Amino acid sequence: MEGMYAEGLAKVGSGKAFINPLAKLNRDMGIAIVGPKTNGGGLKMLDATAATGIRGIRYLMESAVGDCTFLEINEDVFGQLEANIKSNSVKATALNTSIQEFCSSTRERFDLVELDPFGGIYPYVFDVAKVLRGGSYFFATATDTAVLCGAQKNACLKLYSAKPMHNKLCHETGLRIMIGYMARTLAQFNFGIDVLLGMFHDHYMRVYAKLTSGAAAATRSIDSLGFAFHCDSCGAIASSKGLVPVQTKCEACGSKMRASGPLWLGKLKDKGAIDAISAYSSRSGGRRLQSVSQLLSSELDIPLFYHIPSFTKRLGITGVSPDAVIESLKNSGFAASHTHFDPNGVKSDAPSDSVAEAIRDVASGKVSALHYGQV
Ligand SMILES: C[S@@+](CC[C@H](N)C(=O)[O-])C[C@H]1O[C@@H](n2cnc3c(N)ncnc32)[C@H](O)[C@@H]1O
Ligand SMILES: [Zn+2]
Repeated sequence: MEGMYAEGLAKVGSGKAFINPLAKLNRDMGIAIVGPKTNGGGLKMLDATAATGIRGIRYLMESAVGDCTFLEINEDVFGQLEANIKSNSVKATALNTSIQEFCSSTRERFDLVELDPFGGIYPYVFDVAKVLRGGSYFFATATDTAVLCGAQKNACLKLYSAKPMHNKLCHETGLRIMIGYMARTLAQFNFGIDVLLGMFHDHYMRVYAKLTSGAAAATRSIDSLGFAFHCDSCGAIASSKGLVPVQTKCEACGSKMRASGPLWLGKLKDKGAIDAISAYSSRSGGRRLQSVSQLLSSELDIPLFYHIPSFTKRLGITGVSPDAVIESLKNSGFAASHTHFDPNGVKSDAPSDSVAEAIRDVASGKVSALHYGQV
């Protein structure tokens, strides 16, 4: 039928409803993490911002989700949502209401909540927390990157109670501010979070989290909050746990460092989740998902990264590839990897002067260009 959109096992009409075919990648990832159908009743899901319903419908048809409630606030879109639920023959409840109204009045609890609003997640997390329980998955997408990444600094201070960083590190610090906000809000409900995967992709932030119930778990989450630092003079990076920023001077050059936070300094990935996504991408053959999952899998799970062009500019060196810098750092006994946040970034446990030294070695030919591609 004309105007129909097919993805996975679902086929939906969009009408006036929003649909982004590029978001297939993050829908696939959620389905991979939740896992395939089981014999039991399955997970209870809330698709809190349904639009066409493609997300919840796909989980129902392709994953361990056995039952889904769809919320859609917009009357003009709601009819299309109902039609799509019917035409895909899935077991579901659709409500033409808001997250805020539904979550404040229901006694139901959900094993999975998908939150995918227009813009930021900050207006909804408090209400979503009311319908979660220990062990629930909470998957959220945010597109307010201008706020989280510091182009609108005051909005970030106001909405997330966090200071953003408006430089090359902003995609990572923005994602960590979003997760920090989720952790702080959920802690008020005595939930701790484990981040199964946090990523920046196609101009959105995406977080796959799993909750643990209890005051101790909530406190552990808060203990993962802290501040990120960047030295604009020499490119050094640092972080410190706690709700007060302690580091102000760069250890490498003595300059005052730029601070961002409070933000999440905990893990951004879980091996089980990454393995599930990798296995799903091999099965489904999606090349985009395969390359993203390979990159995420190889990335070191430590806060922040070194932006190589900032170093080469300062050192007066041109054309050093991150590949060669990574190899050089590894040869010197450091851990080092690419980062999905920036193709010119390198994650490493090396101090900044060792990164500068590795860059000089690569440029002077001490590290062979032949092995590491173009330098
Ligand atoms: C980005 S779209 C969702 C896309 C969909 N999840 C997908 O994967 O294709 C956001 C939808 O949330 C709806 N929405 C916005 N605010 C809402 C609220 N407070 N409660 C429920 N739905 C809301 C909008 O009308 C819109 O249809
Ligand atoms: Zn410095």
